[in-house]
Amino acid sequence: MPVIIDGKKLAKEIREKLKIECDELKERQIKPKLAVIMVGNDKASQIYVRNKSKACDEIGIAFEEHLLSEYIKQEKLINLIEKLNKDDSIHGILLQSPIPRNLDINEAFKTIAAEKDVDGFNPINVGKLCLNQNTFMPCTPYGIMKMFEAFDIDLTGKDVTIIGRSNIVGKPLVQCCLNKNATVTVCHSKTKDLKEHTKNADVVIVAIGKSKFITADMIKQDSIIIDVGMNRDENGKLTGDVDFENVAKKASYITPVPGGVGPMTIAMLMNNVIKAAKNLN
Ligand code: GUN
Repeated sequence: MPVIIDGKKLAKEIREKLKIECDELKERQIKPKLAVIMVGNDKASQIYVRNKSKACDEIGIAFEEHLLSEYIKQEKLINLIEKLNKDDSIHGILLQSPIPRNLDINEAFKTIAAEKDVDGFNPINVGKLCLNQNTFMPCTPYGIMKMFEAFDIDLTGKDVTIIGRSNIVGKPLVQCCLNKNATVTVCHSKTKDLKEHTKNADVVIVAIGKSKFITADMIKQDSIIIDVGMNRDENGKLTGDVDFENVAKKASYITPVPGGVGPMTIAMLMNNVIKAAKNLN
């Protein structure tokens, strides 16, 4: 049986260390604070934001939520971000995606001050990640890299296949894996023969939002499988993008859903807020 990469346990250890760092900052009269902007009523986003708020509470990070109507104008959103940029009490700003289609999310991410951009989506920070410079790493890729580190998985020379090319997960993951000397392949909806790219990979990371998409016949014996998916099956049960039960029989390491990548994403967000608070003081 494979090693199950327990993201829940690892995330808890990270949060405990961050709580100590947060207490130390408070002794220096620095109170780390995260501002989250949510536009509209996306149900999944509401759950994500609630979980981020809970994690902040637990660590002692102040949390400020800005709920905007789905009908808000771009200018109002930009004005709010600019106000938060100028507010010295705020160290991290996060715009929860998705936002309504009529709004320009790239313009909004660009407006978030690079030094408060705890999601790492401002083009300045995206560029720094490409150049392997110190920056805010996007939280899900960062969480995955922490898992590799915690389990002594060295990516040097490994063939890593990433499935999904989103700006939030797939694309930054390419840079993170490259920075660790992996040979990276990116697959997406237009890839001709996906299995051709997964069956020889040492590591498969999947982030496409399709329940049980990766099946045992698609992977190599003893490969490492990272599942970023968060789907509901026909019974409402949370499932990943991997057919866990069968793939686990063939993998050497695998992340579960729930309790894998999800908790790590939040822990790394908390890490980035504490880092921002330190950098800004
Ligand atoms: N929506 C889904 N995941 C994320 C994330 O990591 N950050 C933001 N801002 N929005 C998201």
